[in-house]
Amino acid sequence: MTTTNHYTFGDNARAATRLELLARAFEEPSRALLERFAPRAPRLALDLGSGPGFTTRLVHEVSAAQRTLGLEASDKYLEQARGSAGQGIELVREDITRPSGTIPAAELVFCRFVLTHVADPAAALTAFRGYLAPGGRLLLQETASMETTHAALNRYYELVARLQAHYGQTLYIGRELQRFAAGAPFSVVHAGIRRFERSAAVMAQLHLQNLMTWRADPFAQRVFDAAELNDLEQALRAVAEGEDRAQPVSLGLGELVLS
Ligand SMILES: C[S@@+](CC[C@H](N)C(=O)[O-])C[C@H]1O[C@@H](n2cnc3c(N)ncnc32)[C@H](O)[C@@H]1O
Repeated sequence: MTTTNHYTFGDNARAATRLELLARAFEEPSRALLERFAPRAPRLALDLGSGPGFTTRLVHEVSAAQRTLGLEASDKYLEQARGSAGQGIELVREDITRPSGTIPAAELVFCRFVLTHVADPAAALTAFRGYLAPGGRLLLQETASMETTHAALNRYYELVARLQAHYGQTLYIGRELQRFAAGAPFSVVHAGIRRFERSAAVMAQLHLQNLMTWRADPFAQRVFDAAELNDLEQALRAVAEGEDRAQPVSLGLGELVLS
C-alpha cells in the first residue's frame, strides 16, 4: 500500500468530463448543504480541492461571498477553472493537506469529494483549521455508500475501492467523517448522512469515464485483469446508454459541518 497523496482519478480531458457529469449529478445535495449551513455573504469563501471549478462557482453563488478562492493541486484543473471563473472567483495552486500560510482565513470553507483521495484524512481535517477565520464554518461532503443490485456496478465499486485502498485511500470515507470530527479541534454543528437516488444510467456514465481513466494506473494495470476491465467497460456502457435497464443507485453522502 502507498500512503503518499495521489489523486487516483487523474486530470486529463476525460477526467474533467467526469467531473462535469459529477457536478450535475451532485449539485442538488451540495446546494442544499450550503443553503442550510453556509454563512450568508461572507467576505471570503474557500473551495478546497476545487477541480475544474464547478464547486467553486456553486459555493460563490449560493453563499453570495464577496470573494471565493478555489484551492487546487492540479495545474490543468486550475487552468480550466480560470477559463470559466466569474467575477469574484480566483483559483490558487495549493496542496490543501499542507496549508502554505498564504491563504487569508475564510468565514466559509467547503470541501467535497477530496478527503476520499487523501492518504491521511484525519490529519488533513486538522490542517483545514488553518483556513478558517474565528467563528467560520467548514462544510464537508463525501461518499458514504453506493448501493445497487446491478452486478457490473457492484464490481466497479469493488475494484475502485481496491485501487483507492492501494493508495491508502477510502472510497466510503463519508462514513468516517464523524469519527474524524471527534479527534479534530472543532465543534460539530451538523453531522449526518444524506440519502438519495440517481439513475443507474447517470452513475454508469460517471463510472465509465472514470474506469477509462484509472485503468491506465500502474497498480490497476498490474493487478486487475485487462479482459475483465474490457467486459466491465462494455457492461457500464450498456447501462450508461440505457440499453440495460437497471434500478437506480441508492447513495449516501456523509456530511459534516464544523466551526
Ligand atoms: C473528485 S475531485 C472533486 C472536485 C470538486 N471538489 C467537486 O466536487 O467537483 C478531487 C479534486 O481534489 C484535488 N486534490 C486532491 N488532493 C489534493 C491536495 N492535496 N491539494 C489540493 N487539491 C487536491 C484533485 O486534483 C481534484 O481536482
